[in-house]
Amino acid sequence: MNDAVLKVSGLEKHFSSAGERLTILDQLDLEVLPGTTVSITGESGCGKSTLLNIIAGLESASGGRIEAGPYQVVGLDEDDSAEYRGAFLGLVFQFHYLLKDFTALENVMLPAYMRGMKKREALDRARSLLAEVKLEHRSHHFPSQMSGGERQRAAVARSLVNSPSLVLADEPTGNLDPANSAVVRDLLFSVVKKHGKTLILVTHDRNMASMTDISWRLEKGRLVRS
Ligand SMILES: Nc1ncnc2c1ncn2[C@@H]1O[C@H](COP(=O)(O)OP(=O)(O)OP(=O)(O)O)[C@@H](O)[C@H]1O
Ligand SMILES: [Mg+2]
Repeated sequence: MNDAVLKVSGLEKHFSSAGERLTILDQLDLEVLPGTTVSITGESGCGKSTLLNIIAGLESASGGRIEAGPYQVVGLDEDDSAEYRGAFLGLVFQFHYLLKDFTALENVMLPAYMRGMKKREALDRARSLLAEVKLEHRSHHFPSQMSGGERQRAAVARSLVNSPSLVLADEPTGNLDPANSAVVRDLLFSVVKKHGKTLILVTHDRNMASMTDISWRLEKGRLVRS
């Protein structure tokens, strides 16, 4: 019986560079239980983003298995991979990836609307998520009319609009000054906890890493407890 939201087994990632084989992930295992928050730290270039991108189906693995709910992520074709992300994942990156021609409210509601939610319902959900990240007053602002911290908060709200089973965040505060970073960090944790979500967070920020239930460090292609 396996109740994990995510089970990664024997994950491998190699790159060939100038005729050399570079091993980034080496038989990596990871199991994440529902409702837990997990952080992954590690030196720059150790493979944290590569790991998260492979879990998200955005990058291919060289070997191994990833079970995420009903999905076998390794080997999904492009369409199934997009369906997996839409149905199962919430993603937050260092860069917000908000659509510049849409308001904060539209950006947050769109992933739900595009998955078939009725417009009114998607808007209601988006409004309530924007309120949770303290952005009601910026609902009708375009990304260019928002601060860096506000854009990241909108990205956090957007990541939750489809009620994902798993939220993946890669340096969500990486572009922010310390004060804004703390605001985004606290809001991220508060919405994740409020909705009982499972979170995998990649961060350089030890403070932030120490706020998760479980902290891992990526070292020589594998995860060690930190
Ligand atoms: N397409 C590629 N070809 C060759 N090497 C690559 C390729 N993509 C990434 N790498 C290498 O893989 C390693 C891991 O990169 P990754 O972006 O996952 O690191 P990271 O831990 O997220 O670093 P940071 O903390 O700086 O974001 C790096 O050494 C990088 O140079
Ligand atoms: Mg990275």
